Amino acid sequence: MEINKNYLNLKDSYLFRTIAQKVNEYKSAHPERDVIRLGIGDVTLPLAPEIVAAMSGAVAEMGRKETFRGYDDTNGYGFLKQALRGYYAQKSVELSDAEIFVGDGAKSDIGNILDIFGEENAVVVPDPVYPVYADTNIMAGRKVTYINGNAGNNFLPLPDKDTRADIIYLCSPNNPTGAVYDRRSLGRWVDYALDAGAVILFDAAYEAYVSDPALPTSIYQIEGAKKCAVEICSFSKTAGFTGVRCGYTVVPAELVRGGVSLNKLWGRRQSTKFNGVSYITQRGAAAALSSQGLGQIKESIRYYMENARVIAETLRELGLWFTGGENSPYIWLRCPNGMSSWEFFDYLLNNANVVGTPGSGFGANGEGFFRLTAFGDAENLREAAERIKILLR
Ligand code: MLT
Repeated sequence: MEINKNYLNLKDSYLFRTIAQKVNEYKSAHPERDVIRLGIGDVTLPLAPEIVAAMSGAVAEMGRKETFRGYDDTNGYGFLKQALRGYYAQKSVELSDAEIFVGDGAKSDIGNILDIFGEENAVVVPDPVYPVYADTNIMAGRKVTYINGNAGNNFLPLPDKDTRADIIYLCSPNNPTGAVYDRRSLGRWVDYALDAGAVILFDAAYEAYVSDPALPTSIYQIEGAKKCAVEICSFSKTAGFTGVRCGYTVVPAELVRGGVSLNKLWGRRQSTKFNGVSYITQRGAAAALSSQGLGQIKESIRYYMENARVIAETLRELGLWFTGGENSPYIWLRCPNGMSSWEFFDYLLNNANVVGTPGSGFGANGEGFFRLTAFGDAENLREAAERIKILLR
């Protein structure tokens, strides 16, 4: 018997697990200290009332013989697809039901979609970026090439004459840097993919945080993208579903490679390895996209973005370089006094009892940088900002 040896090429532990372990050790050693977590991007506000009502109604339906439901279409109920089509119509993007695949979150689909691509494909991943893109390819034995994000290009790398990619990962608004591609830059990637016959896997998990109407919130707002891009998105950050679990993947009908429809391949993969998202959850997701639901989830987003403004203001006062915090719940800062990412992590934890995420955990180019999230409780976050100000002044 052989194990999948590709796993031996991974780092020992997933970034957020390592951080959680370190914080737990610190808390056991100093139980009296009040540690504020601005590390993992996990929401803290409760579900919106419209979502709770819809989910409660769905629970009641499941408890009655006449309205009970068992298995349904693996790829999502018609009512949720209709709500998603309406959401995309507001972005001037037209989708059909068959192009939408409801799943249990962006992270799973980002990993699972690799099933439909050959092992020999050249994979390009921006550095720094969400670790799941590289890790899932390493698990499958694919070689990953990195494209440099840095302060010089505002952490928004573009293809150049040396770029050789079959699969390209893009995340905008970006995790971890909070940087957002504008239409022109995203258009450069779409043009590259169309020319090269590559496929872009576009992670739009933070699209709901974009408030600047000039910035794209879906790759399909870019001409030609339906012929070269898969879009993966989630209700986690949009509607506070990190603990509920629901997301969706769009595979356009026009996306064909090697004479084969990727929509058909993904549908085939899902019907074999997946049995769909619970009815209760999908009712909640559809309610999030109703007009009342959208109003309520936008309130939560405003709350988090006010947190982002507080952090940004603090960093400005301290004269620290950062990106993000506008159109994104993440703030990406340069560590003060030339500290490495993990040095700053320890310094902040030990002296201010504030937890962030070391930039180097997102790739080599993240070394010397640090990520803070705006998802915390507003009062705690103000306290954290105050502690950071006192420590770094
Ligand atoms: C993060 O902190 O980067 C995110 O919470 C990770 C995720 O969404 O899986």
